[in-house]
Amino acid sequence: MSEEAAHKVLVIDDELGPRESIRFLLKGTYEVFCADSVDQGVAMLREQHPDLVIMDIRMPRKSGIEGLREIREHDKVVSVVMLTGYGALETAQEALRLGATDYLSKPFDTTEMLAAVKRYVDRTRHERRRTEMMKDLQEINSRLVDDLASKEQQASMAQSTAEIAHDMRNPLMIVSGYVELLTNQLESVKGELGDQLEGTDDYLEVIGQNVRRCCDLSHMWQKYGRAKLNEFCPTTLTDVIEDIVVGAAPLAASENVSINYDMQPDGAVINGNKPQLLRAIHNVVANAIQAVSPPEGGVQVSCRCGEGRVDIVVRDNGSGMTPEVLNHIFEPYYTTKEEGKGTGLGMVITKRIIEEHQGELLIDSTPGEGTTVTIRLPLATTASEAVSSAA
Ligand SMILES: Nc1ncnc2c1ncn2[C@@H]1O[C@H](COP(=O)(O)OP(=O)(O)OP(=O)(O)O)[C@@H](O)[C@H]1O
Ligand SMILES: [Mg+2]
Repeated sequence: MSEEAAHKVLVIDDELGPRESIRFLLKGTYEVFCADSVDQGVAMLREQHPDLVIMDIRMPRKSGIEGLREIREHDKVVSVVMLTGYGALETAQEALRLGATDYLSKPFDTTEMLAAVKRYVDRTRHERRRTEMMKDLQEINSRLVDDLASKEQQASMAQSTAEIAHDMRNPLMIVSGYVELLTNQLESVKGELGDQLEGTDDYLEVIGQNVRRCCDLSHMWQKYGRAKLNEFCPTTLTDVIEDIVVGAAPLAASENVSINYDMQPDGAVINGNKPQLLRAIHNVVANAIQAVSPPEGGVQVSCRCGEGRVDIVVRDNGSGMTPEVLNHIFEPYYTTKEEGKGTGLGMVITKRIIEEHQGELLIDSTPGEGTTVTIRLPLATTASEAVSSAA
C-alpha cells in the first residue's frame, strides 16, 4: 500500500452522481468514505478522522453551511472543501468565513479536483503535526517554568541557610576560643586542685569537640549556599565513628542510657563527606538513645566490613516501631515525640545523606522489642580510587 493510500477523504453530498464520481476519481490513491447527509457525514468524521472533507453546500434538511459548523465543533484542523453550484458565490464566501478551506464549482474539473485534494490532504497533515508540536512545546515550556520556580525556591533556601550559618559562625568561634582558654587554665591549676576537678577535662573535651562539629556544619551550610552541596573525599570510617562515640556520649549520659561499641572498620575508607556522615549517623544513634528506657535499655553500635561495603549497625532494645510509624518515618516533620524533643527531620536528613553517598538505609523494628538500623555504604577499594571518584 502506498503511503498516500492511508490518507482518508470524506465526501458528503446528497446527490449520488457527484458523490460516486469523486469516489471513482480518488479511490486508487485515497481511502474514500461517502455520506448522503450532514448527520451521516459528521458521524463518519468522528469515527474515521479524515484528512479532507469535500461537502456540497446545497443539501436538503441540513445545508453544507450547517454541516461546516458541526464539523468545526469536532475538528478545527481538517481541511474542508465546499462544492458549489454556479451563481452561489456568496454562499461559498460565507463558507470561507465560517472556516472552510476552499470551494470548487460543480461540475468540477477532474484535474483541478485531484490537485485540490492532494494540496488540502497535505495541509491537514502539516497542520496536525504543527498542532502536536505546539502541544509538546507547551508541555516542555510549562515543565521548564515549574523547574525554574523550584530552582529559584532552592536558591533562596540555600541563601537563607548560608546566612544563618554565617551568623552562627562568629559566636561559635568565640565559644571555641573560650573552651581552649579554659582547657589551658585547667592544666595550670590541675596540680593544686587535683581530685576536685575529676572529669572536668573530659567535659571540656566533649564541649570542644561538639563546638568544632558545629563549626564544620556551619562551614558546610555556607558552602551549600554557594551550591557546593557535597565535597566528597577519602574518609576513614574509624575517624567518623570515633567522633560519633564522643558526640553521642552527653545525650546518652543525660538519658542514663549505656552505649556499647563494637568496631571493626580498621583502615576502611569510604568516599564521603565527613560532616554530612556525622549528621546522618548521629541522627540514628540519637533516635536509638531516645527510644530506650533505662536501666534495662541499651544501644549497641557495631561496624562490619563486607564485600565492597561497610555496615554501620545501630541496635536498640527500646520501644520499636509500629508499621504505621515505619510508613511515615521518612516524611518531613513526622514525629511521635513530645514537643521540643523532636522535629521529625532526623531520618529525612539521614536518608538523603546516605543516598548521596550511594548507600542504603535498612530498618528492622518490632514494637516492644527494639529497632535495628543498618547504614550500608560502599567502600572505596583504595584511597586513590576514592580520590579519583571524588574528583
Ligand atoms: N530507634 C527508634 N525506635 C523507635 N522509634 C523510632 C526510632 N527511630 C525513629 N523512630 C520514630 O521515627 C520518628 C521520626 O524520627 P526522626 O528522627 O525523623 O524524627 P524525631 O526523632 O522525632 O525528631 P528529630 O528531627 O529531632 O530527629 C520518631 O519520632 C520516632 O517515632
Ligand atoms: Mg530523630
